[in-house]
Amino acid sequence: MNNFGGDWTENKIEILVEYAGAYLNIMNIHAKKYGWKLLYFDGFAGSGFIKKGKLEDQKLIIGAARRILEIEDPRSFDMFYFVEKESENAELLKANTKDQFPDKNIRIVTTDCNKKIKALSNFLSSPQGHNYKVLAYIDPCGMQLNWESLVALQKLSVDVWILIPTGMGVNRLLKKDSNISDAWVSKLEIFLGMNKQEILNSFYKESVTMTLFGEEVKTTKEENAVEKSAELYKSRLGSLFKYVSEPYILKNRSNSTMFHFLMASNNRTAVKIANEIIQKYNRKN
Ligand SMILES: C[S@@+](CC[C@H](N)C(=O)[O-])C[C@H]1O[C@@H](n2cnc3c(N)ncnc32)[C@H](O)[C@@H]1O
Repeated sequence: MNNFGGDWTENKIEILVEYAGAYLNIMNIHAKKYGWKLLYFDGFAGSGFIKKGKLEDQKLIIGAARRILEIEDPRSFDMFYFVEKESENAELLKANTKDQFPDKNIRIVTTDCNKKIKALSNFLSSPQGHNYKVLAYIDPCGMQLNWESLVALQKLSVDVWILIPTGMGVNRLLKKDSNISDAWVSKLEIFLGMNKQEILNSFYKESVTMTLFGEEVKTTKEENAVEKSAELYKSRLGSLFKYVSEPYILKNRSNSTMFHFLMASNNRTAVKIANEIIQKYNRKN
């Protein structure tokens, strides 16, 4: 069973569920009219439940997969596709979803989300796939989502909610003096879809001082690297999707930003609705 989370874990799921309700309301009419199929794709589906807090006073939260499966009004999704890399979690997820919702069309696969996003893209681009509209939820615990997976989704009928590990991931790999190990550079490159020089240019500045021994160049990290990484990711998403929502900001108890959570879509109304929901939850912060 997954074990993580602050209050934002609940808020993140509530935002998704509220959006899914609005999505199904609107799509219900269109799906009837045009014969569309509605698919829910969860790339980091977890085990079905999330353990929150310390052992002494642990609380169980119902995970997103089950919450989405529970939606019936005005309709359910036609199909649920859950990806979970850890086989133990996938087994639990099966017991908590497929076994308990036998009438729903649920598929669980134990593999890397990036592979399945590519497969989803291929399917949606095929003649059969043109009939499908997708709500996708990408909820990794770290930097497991490759940028090229998002590239594969561009221009498709997918509303994708993404949890971006800005503070928890990107900022931690960006060393103060830019002396980043090759392994971390490679991780950042795959995650951001940028090369090393582009990354350095985005997050570091150089200052030149004259000393007795000539010029000395000092490289320092931008102070607001967490916010910068969110803005950068958002603007890069804007090159793939027509519309990108404002982010919901997830902070820890010390008020440090851990993640940004936002939605990208090629549908303007979708992002307008997402923004209304996000604003409500950001005001609670
Ligand atoms: C934050 S949790 C997901 C929680 C879930 N969305 C929920 O509401 O219960 C992230 C999950 O992704 C899984 N995971 C990690 N790397 C993965 C990958 N590359 N592909 C698919 N799943 C992965 C982890 O095992 C973990 O269960």
